[in-house]
Amino acid sequence: MTTKPDQSSTGSHTDKRQRLETKKEQAFLGGGQDRIDAQHAKGKLTARERVHLLLDNGSFEEIGAFVKHRSTDFSMDKQHFMGDGVVTGYGTIEGRLVYIFSQDFTVFGGSLSETHAEKICKIMDMAMKNGAPIIGLNDSGGARIQEGVVSLGGYADIFFRNTLASGVVPQISAIMGPCAGGAVYSPAITDFILMVENSSYMFVTGPNVVKTVTNEEVSSEDLGGAYVHGTKSGVAHFTSPNELACLNQIKTLLSYLPSNCEEQAPLLSFELAVEKCEELKSIIPDNPNQPYDIRKVIELVSDKDSFYEVHKNFAENIVVGFARLAGRSIGIVANQPAYLAGVLDVKSSQKGARFVRFCDCFNIPLLVFEDVPGFLPGTDQEWNAIITNGAKLLYAFSEATVPRITVITRKAYGGAYDVMNSKHIGADMNFAWPTAEIAVMGARGAAEIIFKKEIQQADDSETAWKEKEQEYAHIFANPYRAAERGFIDEVIFPEETRIKLIKAYKMLENKVDTRPRKKHGNIPL
Ligand code: HXC
Repeated sequence: MTTKPDQSSTGSHTDKRQRLETKKEQAFLGGGQDRIDAQHAKGKLTARERVHLLLDNGSFEEIGAFVKHRSTDFSMDKQHFMGDGVVTGYGTIEGRLVYIFSQDFTVFGGSLSETHAEKICKIMDMAMKNGAPIIGLNDSGGARIQEGVVSLGGYADIFFRNTLASGVVPQISAIMGPCAGGAVYSPAITDFILMVENSSYMFVTGPNVVKTVTNEEVSSEDLGGAYVHGTKSGVAHFTSPNELACLNQIKTLLSYLPSNCEEQAPLLSFELAVEKCEELKSIIPDNPNQPYDIRKVIELVSDKDSFYEVHKNFAENIVVGFARLAGRSIGIVANQPAYLAGVLDVKSSQKGARFVRFCDCFNIPLLVFEDVPGFLPGTDQEWNAIITNGAKLLYAFSEATVPRITVITRKAYGGAYDVMNSKHIGADMNFAWPTAEIAVMGARGAAEIIFKKEIQQADDSETAWKEKEQEYAHIFANPYRAAERGFIDEVIFPEETRIKLIKAYKMLENKVDTRPRKKHGNIPL
């Protein structure tokens, strides 16, 4: 929209009121009705529609609606749109204060100019001072090409603030359109990324650049769509079939989180529902190599319908997510025997570590369900640094000072026993079910190594091997050696798990734990 000289500034009171009305109307239209129609035609909502759907009715207060860009190159001085491509302000979700920015694709494709960046930085600064979450609704073609380095500087100003805000207030990024170049790095520093299927993309360089540089032909969807980032790269923590579902996911996610690192998450009412725990009696199969779904255990132990899974389709051998126990938020990390036998590998270690660190930042107690045969062996894993990545999970648990409880349901083998929130690395309470097997390795493999000669020399080596396997299993494939040492605080019946956990978290409610004073640790990144 071209700016016209405004005559009303010298007029009457009524004229001055009219001037404000006109400006508000202009700002409300962003890049104009045609572009709004084009946005709708793509099945996308506008920046303002998104904000109003997300926030409590009537709670949104806009800041900086009249901001305009300052660039003059490429005839930009003749193209001004009020708000400069981003709607910023504050409001409430379920009555709780949040700060929000929502990029307006109808204005220069939501691209980031110097002033667009300043608007985002302003609300980020306010969010940090006032201790409330920052929500970014991203729909942007990246750096405003007409502004050059000024735009790059604007991005860096945001990245810097994302880093300062990390661990101070929760930062949530929804990707609701194409996000290229600089537009992906701010979300990447935030705590959670949500993507909309078939209409949102994230990539450092788009398909055209990929073709030029690597000669690879790939669609936007295959390069950086919601499916790719929700399953292969793990960049996206949540994916939704449409924008409304995505906005509702943000609301659900926030319900588990405190507003800042000094607060506790909201306490909700709950039903005791002891009877559902009876199902836990028979959940572990008789055959120790038979899988079962750890999600079932999580659902039976936590408050009814409270489990909210994060990274659901990425690295499925570990399950992470929020739940409530007696109305309080907890963060759950659980090996998944139903996928790759629950083994720890590069991706599952990364997934678990990031989640543990988030929970620790924001005072969310941790609960681990452990059934892990060990780390995944092989060249692929070694060459992709399973050592460094497994160490991330070890480091993340070790540095966490929130209340931490582990329940070993079945296997706790090898280094994975240590890593999965063992007593030795600072867990507060370690429970085991009678079906727990806590040992250096599985009985068959162990017998083969330590009784190699006896097995080879036996007339019937298979029978000898079986006998030795049973001997090893009798000694170690149970929780009692660990309990004798105090590595396990209590061996419990599965059906008691929920009540034991509720009591233990209550007991740990006022836990204070510290780590040595330092500038910051050096997690093996
Ligand atoms: C200025 C832009 C723009 C940009 C889009 N527009 N991207 N204006 N700077 N980066 C404008 C278009 O000119 C157009 O204006 C309107 O937005 C809509 O764009 P279309 O191309 O018509 O829309 P669509 O076909 O949906 O394609 C969307 C898109 C594409 C995929 C985002 O526009 C695109 O590829 N843009 C460039 C992406 C990019 O390379 N960005 C720079 C990344 S580098 P009109 O007037 O017609 O409505 C970067 C560096 C930062 O970000 C690094 C920091 C670490």
